[in-house]
Amino acid sequence: MKHTDISFLKNEATKKDYLNQTVTVCGWVRTSRDSKNMAFMEINDGTTFKHLQIVIDKSQGVENPEAMHLGTSVKVTGTAVEGRQGALEINAQEIEVLGTCPADYPLQKKRHTVEFLRTMPHLRGRTNLFNAVLRVRSVLAQAIHSYFQSKDYVYINTPLITGSDCEGAGEMFQVTTNGFTKEYDNAEDYYANDFFGKKAGLSVSGQLEGEVAAMAMGKIYTFGPSFRAENSNTPKHLSEFWHIEPEVAFAELPDIIEIAEDMVKTVIRTVLEKCPDEMAFFNERIEPGIIDRLTDLINNDFGVCDYTEAIRLLKESGQKFQYPVEWGCDLQTEHERYISETVFKKAVFVTNYPKEIKSFYMKQNDDGKTVAAVDLLVPGVGEIIGGSEREADYDRLVAAMKERDMNLDLYTDYLELRKYGSVPHGGFGLGFERLIMYVTGVANIRDVILYPRSVGSIR
Ligand code: 4AD
Repeated sequence: MKHTDISFLKNEATKKDYLNQTVTVCGWVRTSRDSKNMAFMEINDGTTFKHLQIVIDKSQGVENPEAMHLGTSVKVTGTAVEGRQGALEINAQEIEVLGTCPADYPLQKKRHTVEFLRTMPHLRGRTNLFNAVLRVRSVLAQAIHSYFQSKDYVYINTPLITGSDCEGAGEMFQVTTNGFTKEYDNAEDYYANDFFGKKAGLSVSGQLEGEVAAMAMGKIYTFGPSFRAENSNTPKHLSEFWHIEPEVAFAELPDIIEIAEDMVKTVIRTVLEKCPDEMAFFNERIEPGIIDRLTDLINNDFGVCDYTEAIRLLKESGQKFQYPVEWGCDLQTEHERYISETVFKKAVFVTNYPKEIKSFYMKQNDDGKTVAAVDLLVPGVGEIIGGSEREADYDRLVAAMKERDMNLDLYTDYLELRKYGSVPHGGFGLGFERLIMYVTGVANIRDVILYPRSVGSIR
């Protein structure tokens, strides 16, 4: 269908090419207003955050009452003229209704709660909020690829179906083609007869295979979905989330921290540059001050704080936390937010966690108690990155796995990497939706992805 994207008419650099020209535009009607001699509607085609005003002179016989209903899809031909504040608008010559939209269209009023919109994932993209979120998401994705590609990282696609559980936490969705049956009386028999001849699941992380790739390609990153079957019905957990996992050879924990900080700052700077309209909307409607907060973030160093120090700060805070704080405990969101929001008032890396609360693959520190782990905590969200230097020593890794009663047979590839030319290396995982929450100020992770999956909810 020959037409012009509204983004071209709204773009300061290209709009002059359309001034006083006849153009055809398409879109969904977002607002409409009727008066005696004139009618107005604003349409949006999704190519830009901004709506395009259509001016209808009733005396010209172009009026189309059906087109005035919100949600109707239209094709409009007319002359592009300069309207209020220099923005182009269209003096309509012809309005064609592509798809009518009856009065039960749910997005009638201007403002809806996110809870209401969550009940209609197929329509909520047509609101300003989701228009802005989905475009920021797209720009962030591109910025992440550009960041790594510009630094010679190789983009790797790791398998989604796996026979090993990366985090060792056993919270995997199972992949099976065997239906409900009484044929097998034990699990071993069941899996032996299943599709892969052994137990399989959806990967919780591409890290283990990412390490395989890094041991050949040096610097790699993945960008794909991860699946977690954990029963965490919180505003920051999804069962299916998008995960960015760089893995770097010849790198120790401080190198990993440096990469994470540089990447986060770079991609946020890109969003501030490329999405001014969307960010202005978030600043006005979702989180006042967010643009200043992000600008501060990219212009200042992130904090770094040892876990042991973090525990001391929490214990001395005088705050009443729902989850008690003791050395050895995992940091809960309330603790993470206190550290980043109240103590540091900025993004902060917490390092060197107790080995008992972290994964088997993390490099064991010389103190015998902690591992070279790092989490990045940000105000408003809490953890957005989890990473570590990896245990590169074969014997120490085997010992850590045995301590956790892991089945070493499932990790032969991973262990062999430590046998054939092992090197210090590390990486991290960035939760894409958590980053989007942080950048947009949207408080619930279900509102930064087209179709959220969470415990008890799929559509
Ligand atoms: O801290 P996590 O579990 O670390 C890993 O998966 C490592 N294998 C990463 C690595 O070193 N390559 O997860 C990393 C990040 C978290 O910081 C969080 O941002 C996000 O992934 N994440 C989730 N996001 C949404 N919903 C969930 N259920 C998430 N679980 C983790």
